[in-house]
Amino acid sequence: MFEYKLTAQCPETGARAGEFTTPHGVIKTPVFMPVGTQATVKAMTPPELEGLGAQIILGNTYHLHMRPGEDIVEEAGGLHRFMGWNHPILTDSGGFQVFSLANINKIKEDGVKFRSHIDGSRHFMRPEDSMAIQQKLGSDIAMAFDECVSLPTTPEYSREAMERTIRWAGRCREYHSRPDQALFGIVQGALYESQRIECIERLEEIGFPGYGIGGLSVGESHAEMYRVLDALSPHMPQDKPRYLMGVGFPTNLVEGIARGIDMFDCVLPTRNGRNGQLLTSFGKMNIKNLAFARDYTPVDPNCGCYVCRNFTRAYLRHLYTAGEILAARLCSWHNLYFLVNLVNDARQAIIEGRFPAFRRNFMENFMEGAY
Ligand code: GUN
Ligand code: ZN
Repeated sequence: MFEYKLTAQCPETGARAGEFTTPHGVIKTPVFMPVGTQATVKAMTPPELEGLGAQIILGNTYHLHMRPGEDIVEEAGGLHRFMGWNHPILTDSGGFQVFSLANINKIKEDGVKFRSHIDGSRHFMRPEDSMAIQQKLGSDIAMAFDECVSLPTTPEYSREAMERTIRWAGRCREYHSRPDQALFGIVQGALYESQRIECIERLEEIGFPGYGIGGLSVGESHAEMYRVLDALSPHMPQDKPRYLMGVGFPTNLVEGIARGIDMFDCVLPTRNGRNGQLLTSFGKMNIKNLAFARDYTPVDPNCGCYVCRNFTRAYLRHLYTAGEILAARLCSWHNLYFLVNLVNDARQAIIEGRFPAFRRNFMENFMEGAY
């Protein structure tokens, strides 16, 4: 259980294909994980997610703790049974949501004091609380409770948060006791390469079966994110999965894979989908655009999803304009299929020894800001 097996490696880049075994099945990596914050991937049923190729989805400790509460999820038979998803689930620790959503707060050595974004109620979350909640939720992969530093920051503050994150990771590891759940550590250190390297080395001393890379995609440029990944990658253990947290822009997925990333998650496909923003092999597309009113072609002629096989841009634009609920569903559906299959296609390219060409082709065709 929780073994990472390397299937293939790209000789020209850091890209790798592998398999990670969990109690709810084997995850073929690299993998894109749809986000199901509130025990639902917004607007999508589990069979639809299965059908578009999703292997693992993500849940959030912070949200599920606030509502309905981990006791109800546990009583229901755990998160898999509660939401009707019988494949792997990863839960984030709350270490990011508490900092980005809740009204902070006070960060103390023991934990974080915050107020709920729902009703303003007061809460305190320690690493041990996050572990207890995630154990009750019963996800296949739990994440350590960390501090995600917002940018801009200073080397001094980043170090303080990174050191605290390591101490908290030690406490999580100490408390965690579910043998059927893997606990991943999280690398912090902002945009400072030396802090990132020190962080992974010190987390490896504690010892985790996999590692998240946090604190990226928080406002830095793509080039800065790639610089951190380039520096960090050679120091990550080869035999464990690497999860780039909260990253899901198409070019970032391909470039992350080229730098040895195995797992990604992002709300982008569902959140943007609900706003009529579509991802295609040639760039972003806004379905609201008048130019699509009489466009009877599929969203992306290169896409094999249910939406692209059955509906036109004109129809989706009509649904969106009319405020129909199906617009949000179909746009989310296509976007999820697009990202899940982009990463699956990258995996296939790695296995077949043609990842550099795949990467070049994708990066050339995907125009940032098209339409
Ligand atoms: N999701 C995106 N970034 C982060 C992070 O830095 N920490 C955690 N826990 N989750 C994240
Ligand atoms: Zn499609």
